[in-house]
Amino acid sequence: MTTLHKAASLPPDGHLVLLCGNVAALGRFGLDKQAIDHVRNAFEKDERKLVSFTGPGRIIFVQKKDKKDSAWKTAEALRKAAATLLITINDQKLKALTLADTDDKNEHLLAFAEGLVLGNYQFLKYKKHPEKETNSLASVGVFSKAVNTATLTQLSVVTEATCIARTLVNEPSNFLTAAQLAKEFEKMGKEAGFSTEVFNKSKIEALKMGGLLTVNKGSKQPPTFTIMEYKPARARNKKPIVLVGKGVVYDTGGYNIKVGNGMETMKCDMGGAAAVGGTMYAIAKAKLPVHVIGLVPATDNRIDGDAYVAGDVITMYNGTTVEVLNTDAEGRLILADALSWAEQYTPELVIDLATLTGAAVAAIGPYGIVSMGTADERVKNKLKASGNNAYERLAEMPFWEEYDELIKSDVAEIKNLGGPYGGAITAGKFLAYFTKSPWMHFDIAGPAFISAKDGYRLKGGTGVGVRLLFDFLKSY
Ligand code: BES
Ligand code: ZN
Ligand code: ZN
Repeated sequence: MTTLHKAASLPPDGHLVLLCGNVAALGRFGLDKQAIDHVRNAFEKDERKLVSFTGPGRIIFVQKKDKKDSAWKTAEALRKAAATLLITINDQKLKALTLADTDDKNEHLLAFAEGLVLGNYQFLKYKKHPEKETNSLASVGVFSKAVNTATLTQLSVVTEATCIARTLVNEPSNFLTAAQLAKEFEKMGKEAGFSTEVFNKSKIEALKMGGLLTVNKGSKQPPTFTIMEYKPARARNKKPIVLVGKGVVYDTGGYNIKVGNGMETMKCDMGGAAAVGGTMYAIAKAKLPVHVIGLVPATDNRIDGDAYVAGDVITMYNGTTVEVLNTDAEGRLILADALSWAEQYTPELVIDLATLTGAAVAAIGPYGIVSMGTADERVKNKLKASGNNAYERLAEMPFWEEYDELIKSDVAEIKNLGGPYGGAITAGKFLAYFTKSPWMHFDIAGPAFISAKDGYRLKGGTGVGVRLLFDFLKSY
């Protein structure tokens, strides 16, 4: 992890990145008139966004700020600019740098620093010589009067949590079994300060969590059900907020096996679980005054002599009968049990995150999160604003009652397959059957795992959800 700290002064000989909204103000950062004229020409005549000065033993980068029509778009442009500059920083083998802003604007400095830290993430655990590939940049100092230490600490916590979530997604399923995932949550809880309780297979059997047990039938690895709780003494909410994450550590599809290409990325199918764990880590470490419970049902979805098949009828934790018409629609089965379990807490709000449907990917691609649910408009608007702030934008789907018809079953109460359209919505409708609480469903199948680098979002697991939920909970 790249460390972030507040710099007490502008070092006279260290590398500098100056965000520039006002060329004339560069004099205050030690640039002489000639240098300032050079920057002005580059920005105005040549339409360049970045100018660098290489002196003996130091580089000064001057980064033009692109002001967009809203603050959150400007912040995203700064994160992306940071990721672009980072390529040069690491090429030049720079280890440390100090960041400042001619306008000394808190949000701009934080966004740029966020882009640097997130863009500098690497997953090298399985490399033979990781040191040969390790990025040079290790530390970023922010020199500013506007940035206070508390907000900088929050940024450092939430970026760390995002990287932890990315790593969980990037870990292959031969390491990250359901049991290992639960162990990782226990470790994270100890480090950040939240409690964890892990139900093993016999406990899950005793509880009759039929959805989770059925999906697990084809696996040699036992399922787990992890309950994480962060309850600060002076929480703002009386009733907890419950986060539920899909923890399918690998999805082969089961007997409705994934054919063609589509299976090889399915270690990402616990992206929702990673987001929940990462969020718990961030809010506990940042000591936010909110009471939050995180639930993760976990298993892999495989083929075996005893695996479930299409046509099976199962009984869920809350007693609902479900006709399984496709073993690849397994996520909703394990989430349903967790959502029913959540009801005992009489939550103020339930949010589930899941790499649930290819239909969500088809609808909006990796550019955002497909969202739907029953929470009131005020909560939906706050979540949308947080989605924009984190640039993990929410695209709300209709949740009309007509879709309810599409999951009715001839032989059981409901089926785990919808009709020919609205696949993301009918998956959500299935989940809605298992909760009476104010609830939102975030289908992150598109953005959880990306096949090519996109600025500070690197190839592989993105940790999507953590920054959105942290933003939402910090202003709750
Ligand atoms: N894990 C997949 C969804 C997915 C697709 C996640 C692409 C990430 C990227 C899920 O379990 C699944 O297979 N869903 C099926 C449901 C269908 C059979 C109703 C799908 O979307 O095809
Ligand atoms: Zn599936
Ligand atoms: Zn799945």
